[in-house]
Amino acid sequence: MSNDGVNKGRRRFLLGATSAVGAVGVVGVAVPFVASWNPSAKARAAGAPVKADISKLQPGQQMTIEWRGKPVWVVYRTPEMVANIEKLNDQVADPQSQVPQQPAYVTGVLRSIKPEYAVMIGICTHLGCSPTYRPEVGPADLGSDWLGGFFCPCHGSRFDLAGRVYKSVPAPVNLEVPPYKYETDAVLVIGVDQEGA
Ligand code: FES
Repeated sequence: MSNDGVNKGRRRFLLGATSAVGAVGVVGVAVPFVASWNPSAKARAAGAPVKADISKLQPGQQMTIEWRGKPVWVVYRTPEMVANIEKLNDQVADPQSQVPQQPAYVTGVLRSIKPEYAVMIGICTHLGCSPTYRPEVGPADLGSDWLGGFFCPCHGSRFDLAGRVYKSVPAPVNLEVPPYKYETDAVLVIGVDQEGA
């Protein structure tokens, strides 16, 4: 790959991140930020954990939290969304999350501590664009067999609602899951492992 390709990918990540925020408004889901909870910019840059209040997130919604300069998504998956993830086991490249793209305590099909909350880094594992949240089932542009997930606009990689990458797309592995834990049911801490892990 040439340097030119890498630079283009980075540039597209910035563009993609911007357009993803715009697209979220179109599909009517909220992107609450939690700036008041965050540590100082200096501490963040050093990798300090970030807390997020997820109590206002509604079923089906996605929120984005910044951690170490990266977007971390939290998606509140409905029971239907969770059921649809299982149906995609034959279509994804690493259905049981064998490749270590996540902490040991979130392996498996759902790749999460709690089934209803997905937590993952919103950066495509191909060249670093920001995939778009596409929770709809069977939208015209993604096809009738689309059961909800994330679509990368740069080169067409597809991920399900657990961040599992589809087979035969440019991205080689699942989306990364950061270390995280629940301080309470309403407070998520990104950047710290679950106790006992
Ligand atoms: S960056 Fe190439 S498909 Fe996402």
